[in-house]
Amino acid sequence: MQYEAILAPVDNFADSWREFVAAGGKGANITVPFKQQAYQLAEQLSDQAKQAQAVNTLYIDKYGKLCGDNTDGIGLVMDLRRLQQKLAASTVLILGAGGATRGVIAPLLQAGVANIVIANRTLSKAQAIADMINQTVNKEVKQQVQAADLAQIPDLAYNIVINATSSGLMGERPLIAEKHLQHCLLAYDMLYGAEPTTFLRWAKQSGVPLQADGLGMLVAQAAESFYIWRGKRPEVEPVLSMLSEQLA
Ligand code: ATR
Repeated sequence: MQYEAILAPVDNFADSWREFVAAGGKGANITVPFKQQAYQLAEQLSDQAKQAQAVNTLYIDKYGKLCGDNTDGIGLVMDLRRLQQKLAASTVLILGAGGATRGVIAPLLQAGVANIVIANRTLSKAQAIADMINQTVNKEVKQQVQAADLAQIPDLAYNIVINATSSGLMGERPLIAEKHLQHCLLAYDMLYGAEPTTFLRWAKQSGVPLQADGLGMLVAQAAESFYIWRGKRPEVEPVLSMLSEQLA
């Protein structure tokens, strides 16, 4: 088995995929910025891919159909469990309303999270995700997803605060009030790198007991993709330790 990186031209993912298949390719992980192009290309989409409106895993099924799935959300849930967070009946604040957020809300609800507030600089984008989810969530189950402006986040006891914005790439953090971290047991940033992000440093200074970056989510989503292709779930921990050492 070979698993290697391919650099695709930004505006022509489809041809790269066809060349890959012609050379014997069976499946692929898709990174930013190609997840929407992969979503368009797939002939059949999983529920996760439909909800995320993005595909991070492609494979050809036994009928020769090109299938698109999305394991980002389950990757996050797996990582939160690895970090020993209790998700059932918890309250989660998620910052940002781009593709990263869209892919994780439904899996968080499936894991039992009771309340999710999506807060974004541009309220309308957070509202659009909340509306989409609220149309599909089973109303019998008492789960709530609401949208907020970063400056007007409802005062709830947030157990986990997740930064899904790209602000860390510019060395910034979403400007939210410190009071929202009061009950927070874990601050999570979907970005990863050698140094903690500005958001994670701020959370630490504010007294949040545990901080984690998105490296664990990266490894866990890849493990879940591997399961789709090969029917086996690789162990996350050894890969995560190896990558952490390489990044340090
Ligand atoms: P992705 O698809 O990877 O999530 P994206 O669609 O570009 O990327 O979304 C980036 C998110 O980070 C958006 O929610 C963006 O806020 P806006 O919707 O208001 O643009 C958010 N973001 C980026 N920089 C930010 C900053 N400095 N402070 C707060 N939010 C920021």
